Amino acid sequence: MNDVRNIVLVGFMGAGKTSAGKALADVLHRPFFDTDVMVEEGAGATVETIFETLGEDVFRTLESEAIATVAAIKGSVIATGGGALKNPASALALKKNNFVVYLKVSPQVLLDRIANKPGRPLAAAWSGVEDLSLMLAEREASYEAIADLVIDTSYKTPDEVRHEVFHAIGY
Ligand code: S3P
Repeated sequence: MNDVRNIVLVGFMGAGKTSAGKALADVLHRPFFDTDVMVEEGAGATVETIFETLGEDVFRTLESEAIATVAAIKGSVIATGGGALKNPASALALKKNNFVVYLKVSPQVLLDRIANKPGRPLAAAWSGVEDLSLMLAEREASYEAIADLVIDTSYKTPDEVRHEVFHAIGY
């Protein structure tokens, strides 16, 4: 494939960014980066521990550093954290010269996927779908704004998502 832009996956927690990203990278033989994993490796601590011990602001700084690093690379597949676009500089870096895919999912399906799963500190404070919907509503415009392609992944497997991305990029 001649298109050397990174394929960037954005969307809420539980949207399937990591699974779809791995599926894309595998078939395209491209390197795969998950910014949460980069932050964890850099800090030597899990996302949960970073939130607990250092706080969200420090996590966001580490996340924006990871994004600046991967956005400067070409020809990779990048899965971002659900709050990555809270930092305008990160949103700008991801948009520039990359093909951005917003994986969109209905609030109830998101909650079913996230509920009772450890490792997502922000979700731990939710008491139900209303809390999730509120956060999604705050973030949705930023996902839409940088997306070259929007895929509703509520009932799709990572391979089905991969096919839709391939179709869009002409692969
Ligand atoms: C977050 C999403 C998480 C992770 C952190 C914060 C968020 O990534 O970056 O827990 O603010 O939505 P996933 O979207 O991969 O769960």
